[in-house]
Order: sequence, then C-alpha cells, then structure tokens
Amino acid sequence: MLFSERVFCGQLTLGEVGRRVLLAGWVDAFRDHGGLLFIHLRDRSGIVQIVFSPEIAAADVCRRAAGLRAEYCIAVRGEVKQRREGTENPHIETGSMEVLVTELEVLSESDALPFAVSDKAMVAGAPSAGTDTVAEDLRLQYRYLDIRRTSMRDNLIARHRIFQCVRDFLDSRGFVEIETPVLTMSTPEGARDYLVPSRVHPENFYALPQSPQLFKQLLMIGGMERYFQLARCFRDEDLRPNRQPEFTQLDIEASFIDEEFLYELIEELTVRMFAVGGITLPRPFARMTHAEAMDTTGSDRPDLRFGLRFVDVTSVFAQTRYSIFRQILERGGCIKGINIQGQSGQLSKNVLQNEYAKEIVPSFGAKGMTWMRVEDGKFESNIVQFFSELELEALRGKFSAADGDVLILIADPSHATVTSALGQLRLHLANRLGLIPSNSFCPVWITEFPLFEATDEGGVTSSHHPFTAPDRADFDPKNIEELLSLRSRAYDLVINGEELGGGSIRINDRDLQRRIFAALGLTEAETKEKFGFFLRAFDFGAPPHGGLALGMDRAVSMILKTPSIREVIAFPKNRGAACPLTGAPSPVKREQLAELGLLNLGSQDVLPGTAENENRIDRLSWVSRIGLSADERPGMEDVLAQADALALLAAQNAGEGEALYTVAPVANRTRPGIQEKCSPLAETGQLLSRAPAVKGRFFKVASILE
Ligand code: AMO
Repeated sequence: MLFSERVFCGQLTLGEVGRRVLLAGWVDAFRDHGGLLFIHLRDRSGIVQIVFSPEIAAADVCRRAAGLRAEYCIAVRGEVKQRREGTENPHIETGSMEVLVTELEVLSESDALPFAVSDKAMVAGAPSAGTDTVAEDLRLQYRYLDIRRTSMRDNLIARHRIFQCVRDFLDSRGFVEIETPVLTMSTPEGARDYLVPSRVHPENFYALPQSPQLFKQLLMIGGMERYFQLARCFRDEDLRPNRQPEFTQLDIEASFIDEEFLYELIEELTVRMFAVGGITLPRPFARMTHAEAMDTTGSDRPDLRFGLRFVDVTSVFAQTRYSIFRQILERGGCIKGINIQGQSGQLSKNVLQNEYAKEIVPSFGAKGMTWMRVEDGKFESNIVQFFSELELEALRGKFSAADGDVLILIADPSHATVTSALGQLRLHLANRLGLIPSNSFCPVWITEFPLFEATDEGGVTSSHHPFTAPDRADFDPKNIEELLSLRSRAYDLVINGEELGGGSIRINDRDLQRRIFAALGLTEAETKEKFGFFLRAFDFGAPPHGGLALGMDRAVSMILKTPSIREVIAFPKNRGAACPLTGAPSPVKREQLAELGLLNLGSQDVLPGTAENENRIDRLSWVSRIGLSADERPGMEDVLAQADALALLAAQNAGEGEALYTVAPVANRTRPGIQEKCSPLAETGQLLSRAPAVKGRFFKVASILE
C-alpha cells in the first residue's frame, strides 16, 4: 500500500464520507458479530471504527481479518460511511462514521499483551478499560505499550505543546536557547552527583550536572544576556514521589535585570504554560516572605488553596496557671494554633482526643496538642477549666472563633517543632475535611529566604546555592550568628504546595563571592580547587545577573493533573530509581571496570588473571575481552579440561612429557637487535602505579597498540 496516501484515523470528518481512504495503525479492540467484524483502528491521532463485511470485502480479506488480534499493526483501505443513527460511539472522536474495508495488509503481528492497551469502549455506555489496576513497574517494563494508550500519548503530546509554548515565548522575549555540557564538573545544588568515569583519564570522573548553574552564569559573563535551556539535570538524592534522578528544568538566566523583571517574565510564562492545559492562573501572583510562610503555614512551600493559617497565641498565656503551657513558656517556647472553622460536626471529642492528640500530632513530632470546640458561645474541651476567662476571651478574639469552630493549639519549647507539627497537621486536616478545592491554583512567590542554614558541625551551608546574592554585603564571614541572620535575594515559585521553581539574583562581585565561600568554611585553596575556573571569570567584568529554573516535569504534571510526574515522562525511573524496561542501573563486567581503572580504586582488589590471582578462566576472559557470567564458567571449564586432555595427548605423541598451555604466552617482546632493559622503577612498582590495568610487571595498552 502507498503510505503517502495515508490519512489519520482521528482526523476523519463527515466531509470524507463516500471517499476511499488508506488508514494505518493498531488494532485497539475488536468485536465479531458472526462474520461481520468491527475493529477500532488506532493511530496517534485517534480511533476510527473499521468494518469487515463479507458483503463488501473479498472472502480472503475477511478470512485474514478474522485472525487479527489486539495490537496487530495493519493498513486498510476502504470507504468512509456515516454510521446509522443510534449506532454512534461518543467515546471516540470519529464516532459518527466508520470505514468499510476492502483491502487489508497485516504489517506486523503482536504477542498476547501483558496488560490491556485499549481504553476506549467499543459500545456506547460500556465501561472503558484503564490501567489503574496494572502494577506501575509492569507499565514501565512495557512502556512502549503503555505509550500506545491514549492517556499516555496525550500526556506526551501535551508536554511537547507546553515545551513549544515555552520556546516560542522566550524567543519572543529575546532569550537564546543554548546547550551546556552534560559531562562536566560537580555543581553545588545540594544533592549527590552521578559520576562518570573517564577511560582516557584513569581515576578521574566527570559529574553529570545537577543543574547548568555555573555554565549559565558563565554565559552571562560571556555576554549572552538572555539564555534559556530545557536542560536535563541529574541528582542522586533521596526518592520522593515528585522527584526523579534525572529530570528536566527550564533553566533561565538574564543580565542587567532585577527581581521584578524575573517575576513579570515567569508569571507571563507560567500563565501561558497553564493556559495550554486550559487553566487560568490568577495574576499577579501572591508574594510572601519566607518568614511569613513559615509563621503562618509552617512550610516554605505553602498550599494557599485553603485557610487554616497559624495564629500565635503565646502572649495570651504569658501569665497562665495552666502548668504545661507555663513550663513551656518558661523554657522560651511558643504556642500557636489554627481555627478549623465550622468543622466541629466532623471533629468529635473522640476524634480530637484519641486520634489527633494521642496518635496523629505525636507522629508529627510534637508532644501533644490542645483542642477546644466552640458550642453555644462556650469553649468545650477536656482542659478548658484550666484557662482563665480572660485567656478564653483573648483566644476567641485572636481566632475570631464562632460556634461550630474547632481550635487546635500546639505548644513546645522548640519553635521549629511547633511550626513543623502544626504545618503537617494543617495539611492533614485540609485533606481529611476536603477543604482543598480541586480545581483552584494558587501561585505564590516565596521571597527573602535565609541566605544560610546552620550545620550540625556549627558552621553554615547555603540555603540555595553559594552564588545567590545576600541582601547586604557588609557581613563578617566568621560571625556565624550574623551569617544566619542574612536574607538572600532568592525566590521560589510555589503553586498549591509544590515548589515549581527557584532562582535568585546572583553575586557578580568577585570579592563578595570569595567572602561567601569563606563563610561556608572553604579555604582559599579549596575554593580555588573547586571553583577557581568560575571565580576567574569574575575577574573580567561580570554583569549583574539573575535567573531561575522551573521543574518542567512537575509543572507539566500539575497542568495535566496527573497523579505523579512519572505520567508525563516518556521513560521515567520507578520509585526505586531503576528502569524496569532496560534494567538500569545494572552491574558491569569486571573487564569494563578494569579498563576504566576502577578495579583497584579504594580497595586492594586484584585484577583478573594477574599472577596473584591466577585463574585460567579469568585470564582467558581478560585476554579475549569476552566477559563471562557465573553460569557460563562451568561450561568454559569443561572446554578447557578437554583442551588440556587433547594437548597432553599431543605432547605425549610428540614425545614431550608435559603439555604447555597458555592462551597468551606471556613474554617480553622487543624489536630484533634491541637490548632488553628493565627500569628500576618497574621493580619497585612505581613505574606502573598509575597504569589503568596491570598484569604482573606489564600493563595493558589500548588495543590499537596491541
Ligand atoms: P532548584 O534546585 O530549586 O534550583 O531546582 C529548580 C526546580 O527543579 C525541580 N526539581 C526537580 N524535579 C524533579 N525531580 C527532582 N529530583 C528535582 N529537583 C529539583 C523543582 C525545583 O524547583 N540552579 C538552580 C536554579 C537557579 O538558581 O537558577 C536550581 O537548580 O521544581
């Protein structure tokens, strides 16, 4: 069949009725009505029903059609017909027509499927199959089949549309897409690096980029002014549902700009991206300082779709008789709470006391909680009698408490414990009580982050990364207390409790950058070793610059409302950071490690086949460069034993007592006429100490020289 004539299944319209068309795709589903065969033919554009009728198609075509099974890849030719009234299928785009087939070519057959690919019912009203019950690892193992499903296909196409929208928009604003290296140096984003060993430089490693941070700043110093990249980033960090070991960032950097430039740019961009998914984001985005976010929601990525903001009631209990609160306040603690308005019907005494106070809140790290329900204008709880009228009145005022409300207070000597426990409780209650509107989107910029965080060793570490500009430059890099009080010019974009992106205005003053490294406890020598090349660039007129990176997998997943970011990535890793399709990560052969000079790294491992670890099989494998798996070894041992026996026989026949065997006779070969010399360094082992792979007193060389 002539594929140039092919038309797409999902794009057939009633305008084509009466035309003969060539279609190609996969058998999505089929129904046999006693000789009359109905098939849903699916290609990337959608599905159309094709019909094999003995009255129209030749007997041979009908016979071959009867053998078709799910996911056979076929091409058909036939005439487009409007379906009879009452037989339309609203599940598919082309449900008002069908194609009466006269020609069929089976392009390729399919095995029985590991799970159903079809998710469109053939009959109106019938339930359609889904993959809810299919184990995710099975879907990932057969991802190419999973991608045939309409929902995965739609996700990948929508992802492309969103990426396209990003490219168009940034291009229109003068941004240039530039690729930065993937085999590179470590970038300080706080996670572990994935390392790639270099064969050419034994014992040296590239790091896969955690982000293009250093390079995008170098591009600014290089005068590119406006850069972006849809960059693959790699981070070896603890697994979480919205994290992948490799993920895609929209990485942006611009020169001669300030925060307001970036807020405007990113707001417009985000609004356009969400519009691709039919979502209208409210503008301008809200803004909240980090301190405010922590104080009122206990999180630096607050979900603002619902209330339940914290109220600090420490002052209410300054003189309290209630001993638990008094002792906590004497130890410098605080008391904060939330008002769960109008929910006393859902939160009985039993639930509050036995579930929340005894189980849930302790699991969030607080020792306990105090609850009060407001009924008939009065507070009702197991401890209300310990509070004075004045305290209760002050509480009522602070929380604007009314009948039907439930107040929950958490007190603790540690402010961080109160904030963290109440933050988790806030989310728990919102989910349990259904307070989170599903179709609302609340973007917010979080600003004024602390520049540093304290480390357990008594020093500081960057909250963002060490290139973020501080709010002031006149600090003493040795004064930890002062360092911890500094704010940064960093900002995060948070939507519905999810961190979509983050960035900052950078340092462009070389001395300030050096002082930040000093504050981080790096010596001049360490700074030079790690970032020398980077700092050197600041000696040549670095422009003021700043930028941001958006997590594109998270953004697309949010726009498409998928339950996980894996649903918007073609070939993601599973929850265990592995790829069930390819089996990555997988062990490598010892030979490969030896070639990379990795066998002896950090251990006393002996190379295979060396004199110290003589083993004929290892040696064979080593010399032939054919790796052997454990179950191949016994077979190889048999073959060698037979070869031994044969060689012995041959030797005896030749009148020699013993068979000589060697797969690669070890000998020192020199050109004729050249005197053999041995370096004294070879005797001490120094000569070969840096050789990638050593065998006795020899080292292995690249095959071209062998
Ligand atoms: P940051 O580390 O905040 O900033 O990363 C930016 C955004 O990338 C997304 N993200 C991830 N998505 C999926 N899986 C992961 N493992 C993962 N880690 C991060 C998040 C995050 O907000 N160089 C800076 C940006 C800058 O300063 O310009 C950076 O990488 O959505």
